[in-house]
Amino acid sequence: MKISVLGLGYIGLPTSLLLADAGNTVIGVDINNKIVDLLNKGQLPFDETGIIDLFQKAKNNFTASDTLETSDVYIIAVPTPLEKGMKLADLNAVRNAARSIASVIKEKQLVILESTVPPGTSENLVVPILRNNMKRSFYYAHCPERAIPGKTLHEMVFNDRIIGGIDEESAKKTKQLYSSFVKGNIYTTSTKTAEFVKLMENTFRDINIALANEFSLIAEELGIDVWEAIEIANKHPRVDILKPGPGVGGHCIAIDPLFLAEKSSKSRIVTLAREINDSMPRHVVKMVKEMIKDIENPTITILGLAYKGDVDDTRESPAFKIKRIAEGEGINVKIYDPLVKDIPDNSKTLKDAVCNTDCIVLVTDHELFKDINPMSLQIRTKNLIDTRNILNHSIWRDAGYRIKILGIG
Ligand SMILES: NC(=O)c1ccc[n+]([C@@H]2O[C@H](COP(=O)([O-])OP(=O)(O)OC[C@H]3O[C@@H](n4cnc5c(N)ncnc54)[C@H](O)[C@@H]3O)[C@@H](O)[C@H]2O)c1
Repeated sequence: MKISVLGLGYIGLPTSLLLADAGNTVIGVDINNKIVDLLNKGQLPFDETGIIDLFQKAKNNFTASDTLETSDVYIIAVPTPLEKGMKLADLNAVRNAARSIASVIKEKQLVILESTVPPGTSENLVVPILRNNMKRSFYYAHCPERAIPGKTLHEMVFNDRIIGGIDEESAKKTKQLYSSFVKGNIYTTSTKTAEFVKLMENTFRDINIALANEFSLIAEELGIDVWEAIEIANKHPRVDILKPGPGVGGHCIAIDPLFLAEKSSKSRIVTLAREINDSMPRHVVKMVKEMIKDIENPTITILGLAYKGDVDDTRESPAFKIKRIAEGEGINVKIYDPLVKDIPDNSKTLKDAVCNTDCIVLVTDHELFKDINPMSLQIRTKNLIDTRNILNHSIWRDAGYRIKILGIG
């Protein structure tokens, strides 16, 4: 099989390498020449558990290119963000990818859309572009990705997959292809249902986190420890409340529920959950202001820019929202995340990051932050806000810190 994967990001590259490792000839196509050059020089554009070893094993069957060639299979794994300043899916990359496939596709070839899209996108946008006003016969399926950064490769292999085909033959062919590396079950359905299922999954998590966040606000008001309360509530066999935090980030949960909302007038809880989660960065800044209210010209340090622990992905991260809101309130903000590269203001060392600071605000639950020795920090005012409840607070208290934990009243 000659397979072209369009988009060599967090999803497209691991998928390409798994397919190459399974014996297919894979051409990864990306409009970003830097990524193409890097890969062809044998370097990876980002880190992910196990990807270096997989790249070594698969690289004889894999090349990167900026040009799409005719192939047996085309997989679209391009980004689907929100339109700038809007709560609507920006499908430009999907549209462009479909157009480039339409210019090279031949009869009986298979196109698979992996990108997350609003329900109906396959039927109303991608398939019509591929048909290109001709009676061309091709196979088409939507196979949404469910993997999580940090465990992408493991989950791509072991998670169950869902395949929505435009017809049975398309679903069957796609299932056959994914069976070459997927060890989970593979379920088939229609394209629109597959699109909907993917969005339901992330919306379910977004609403659960919004509930945890609302519980944390209630707990703060009532003088309760929400972390202890959630732990006890989760002992109930049918209760599984997720964790509260400073807001939801990433390319999925913070965005995908809005793809449902834009397609239906019936979504209420979906929109409300987004609003609650989006309000958390402002709540964190309120906690900060309370903590440093007596300090003139204050400076704070945000620990963690990634949207979640132990990854370098900063997309939609609440850290940037907290920074922007705090700066708007006249607070100087320093930032520090040793896992994240290419962010201009990112302090080089923890020592630089906390120097002349009046409050440390822990935003990302990186494991390495747990090892910080508060005794060793040269800080101006010993204040700490832990929005993830991950630090050993007694050692920070012993080091003289005033501490506030999100969700504890
Ligand atoms: N990252 C995740 O954890 C995750 C999980 C599940 C689903 N998804 C979905 O998968 C899709 C891809 O996400 P990602 O995280 O890999 O994105 P990404 O931004 O990491 O990578 C996308 C790549 O596509 C390239 N690209 C854009 N337009 C192109 C085109 N027309 N032709 C070829 N390449 C093009 C970009 O240059 C980029 O390198 C999105 O729809 C996302 O919602 C992502």
